[in-house]
Amino acid sequence: MNARSLTLRNVNKSYDGKHMAADDVSLSIKAGEFVSFLGPSGSGKTTTLMMIAGFQHPTSGEIRLGDRAIDNLPPHKRNIGMVFQNYALFPHMTVADNVAFPLRMRGVDKAEKERRSREALAKVGLQGFEKRVPSELSGGQQQRVALARALVFQPDIILLDEPLGALDKALREHMQVELKRIHKDLGVTMVYVTHDQTEAMTMSDRIAVFNQGRIEQVGTPNEIYFAPKTRFVASFIGDSNIISASSMGDGRFETPVGIVETAATAGRNSKADLLLRPEMIRIADTAQTNRQPMKIDTTINYGDNLLVIGKLGSQAIRMRVPGIDARKLTGAAECHVTWRNEDVHVIA
Ligand SMILES: Nc1ncnc2c1ncn2[C@@H]1O[C@H](COP(=O)(O)OP(=O)(O)OP(=O)(O)O)[C@@H](O)[C@H]1O
Ligand SMILES: [Mg+2]
Repeated sequence: MNARSLTLRNVNKSYDGKHMAADDVSLSIKAGEFVSFLGPSGSGKTTTLMMIAGFQHPTSGEIRLGDRAIDNLPPHKRNIGMVFQNYALFPHMTVADNVAFPLRMRGVDKAEKERRSREALAKVGLQGFEKRVPSELSGGQQQRVALARALVFQPDIILLDEPLGALDKALREHMQVELKRIHKDLGVTMVYVTHDQTEAMTMSDRIAVFNQGRIEQVGTPNEIYFAPKTRFVASFIGDSNIISASSMGDGRFETPVGIVETAATAGRNSKADLLLRPEMIRIADTAQTNRQPMKIDTTINYGDNLLVIGKLGSQAIRMRVPGIDARKLTGAAECHVTWRNEDVHVIA
């Protein structure tokens, strides 16, 4: 299959002339890359996808697929496959006819249409389902038909807008694995919209985090998780403790939990937010020097880990203790905690 790069340059979109649904969005996606758009409801993910697909027009800016500008092409001339959230299969058509539909639109002859539709269904593991209608399929199978329909005309890029939103957890996880397999087998560029951060973390080469129409950060899942550039990204992805701090100029910061040492440098007296992920805080043993008393307010037992919610001085803190250590805390109102300096990330 083909794969092409995709470039958005300073793309803006306003539906009403006042509020920006997409605000100066710039992004380069490499050929064959799997990129997720992640962000809260209303942050501009679908709007951006619709502009790439050609169903919405940017107010300003440029979109390029490979080496050509596509801004003036109608959707069917862009060679982009699209899977929507509520997969919108034609209910009265058979599975084979649903999949062949984009080929019909492109005037492909009957024999070729049947061959390619069978091939696309095989790619998503649905051989033998050609004659059924959508109501005779499970949710996951319908989703795979929608995917086959997006693959069948060998698009340069596939856009997926929350394609798994309607599925239950087990089926969702199964389809995540399937989608990754298809991505790997075909080598096609994929842009995947989700507001499920775990899904974005597990599936993506890179994640673009959207907030209020803007991309706050683009990076690998590890960059986004361990080195968020803004407070929004730090708090939207994963569980977090964000501690307001004032730099002492030598890597140390004054904070409500005392002086915190980091590996970063920042100008003296500059304000910063420190990120300390809950799983980076550990129960300290008595031999440890840099330990602090933590007051425990609530614990929530997940089995494999225990979430401890409490306070270090006046600072509210969340800590995740591996299940195997959690028994040490049974009935405790206080414990001693510690963390490694290099695990403290300075946001800004
Ligand atoms: N057709 C439209 N007409 C007017 N405003 C719109 C239209 N579509 C979206 N908007 C507005 O544009 C903004 C971005 O919406 P968009 O659908 O892109 O968000 P989203 O990130 O996909 O959210 P969700 O996760 O809920 O799907 C929102 O404020 C929304 O109300
Ligand atoms: Mg949306």
